[in-house]
Amino acid sequence: MSSLNIIRFYLNGQLHEVANVESTTTLLNYLRETLLQTGSKEGCAEGDCGACTVVIAEQQDGRLRFRSINSCIQFLPTLDGKALYTVEGLRNKDGSLHPAQQAMVDCHASQCGFCTPGFVMSLFALYKSENRPDRQLIDDALAGNLCRCTGYRPIIDAAGQMYEYGKEQTAEQQTVINSPGSVKALEKELVEQLEMIKPAKDKKLGRHFYAPLSLDSLTSCYAEHPEATLLAGGTDVGLWVTKQYRDLPEIIYLGQIEELKRINIAEGFIQIGASVSLTDAFECLLEHYPDLDEIARRFASPPIRNAGTLCGNVANGSPIGDSMPALLCLGTIVRLRSAAGSRDVPMHKFYLGYQQKDLQQAEFVEAVLIPLPEEQHVFRSYKISKRFDQDISAVCAAFNLVLKDGVVDEISIAYGGMAAIPQRALQCEKSLLGQNFELAIVEKSMQVLSEDFTPLTDMRASADYRIKVAANLLLRFYHEVNGAAKNTTHVLRYVG
Ligand SMILES: Cc1cc2nc3c(=O)[nH]c(=O)nc-3n(C[C@H](O)[C@H](O)[C@H](O)COP(=O)(O)OP(=O)(O)OC[C@H]3O[C@@H](n4cnc5c(N)ncnc54)[C@H](O)[C@@H]3O)c2cc1C
Ligand code: FES
Ligand code: FES
Repeated sequence: MSSLNIIRFYLNGQLHEVANVESTTTLLNYLRETLLQTGSKEGCAEGDCGACTVVIAEQQDGRLRFRSINSCIQFLPTLDGKALYTVEGLRNKDGSLHPAQQAMVDCHASQCGFCTPGFVMSLFALYKSENRPDRQLIDDALAGNLCRCTGYRPIIDAAGQMYEYGKEQTAEQQTVINSPGSVKALEKELVEQLEMIKPAKDKKLGRHFYAPLSLDSLTSCYAEHPEATLLAGGTDVGLWVTKQYRDLPEIIYLGQIEELKRINIAEGFIQIGASVSLTDAFECLLEHYPDLDEIARRFASPPIRNAGTLCGNVANGSPIGDSMPALLCLGTIVRLRSAAGSRDVPMHKFYLGYQQKDLQQAEFVEAVLIPLPEEQHVFRSYKISKRFDQDISAVCAAFNLVLKDGVVDEISIAYGGMAAIPQRALQCEKSLLGQNFELAIVEKSMQVLSEDFTPLTDMRASADYRIKVAANLLLRFYHEVNGAAKNTTHVLRYVG
């Protein structure tokens, strides 16, 4: 068998090779059913509960990053060239527990134990990325893990406590995984190991799983297999298999293409490539648009944001996708690519109808280009969902405004959850443009929203609720711009 068909990764420090797997074998099923490593659990098989959390280590921008992902929706061939850590691999060589495990024991943070391996792995990812996280960071790191019996307080205590155990280790006891944060000297060996298994050529892993290494190979591979499913982070595609039992005869994976992993800032745009994770995309966007904070933190959970991509969200084009209202509002351009060449489409023209996009055969999203902020713009985005963390929006809204002497000089308003596609509120914008930005005008424009949208009633919200909330978000924006209200996300989170 050619090495081009073999999936190679480090599993808890040991080189692991697999051949002849089904393209859509999930990592969780492989761990539990083939390797009989049953520490990682299956709770939901859809990325929601975190019982299956594992950690991937990868080199990125010269740094080693340890990030949590949900193994239940991750296809095994995507592991090629990476290092995987599962709960079975955390113990120290002398048999003692990893600081994340010991802290969970000492803080009495487990009862039935079903969720515990997942929490331990999220704590491990936190331990390897932050040295002294505050409460907010701890809460965010655990947002993708559910526990139905212990209660979260002891687990949060364990998150603070684990760093104390890290400090107690002697230099000889320290390894790359049991030392907090990044310790370059300890990382050397792992970095060399990852270099050795880095794919050097386009691979076909599994029966019909293509993993091209360059943009050109992707373009020609897609032209040859136009019916193939493109796979980026798999946080949508994974569920087609685990929940809808769909057969995916051919898959083309975008995650090995360096050109698509880049973020470039040039000529007034932030260009985010198709394989950039949501975590990295938001990290960069927040530097320029700090008001995206609420969307960034409440978009799914860390394991989903670590695997999923911003371009995957845009390409999937769900009417309740969270990034699109903000991106639409900011005037984002979608860069498309196929064997015929490249073309740029303004995002508001990209969505043609429910699940219909301006994509030709074998054409894919290469990047999204988001304009850099101009000084006089005021931008805000909001997400309304039943739960604060890890929930799909009922309504999502974004506003981008330029005022000149109190008059609306430019305005862009976009909503998710209000129509079959993420959409600008053009009538509402028209009613505000050129007017004084004052309460009476805003209240009139709130009424106009029902000309823009006829939302649906579904399990997330009724049509009435949606239209009311959409209008109230405009009102909230008005009050925030005028300083009468502050963004209250942080306060609301801890109430009750
Ligand atoms: C538990 C859970 C919570 C979630 N929460 C949220 C949430 O809060 N908000 C939200 O908006 N979404 C949420 N999602 C949905 C999902 O995480 C996002 O849509 C994500 O951005 C998808 O990116 P991906 O890289 O994983 O896409 P994939 O699953 O790999 O692909 C998604 C679709 O886009 C296509 N595709 C991917 N990349 C390209 C490309 N470059 N060009 C053309 N087509 C492409 C694929 O073929 C597929 O049709 C959630 C999902 C899960 C499982
Ligand atoms: S099993 Fe629930 S997130 Fe994977
Ligand atoms: S300890 Fe039982 S679900 Fe968390």
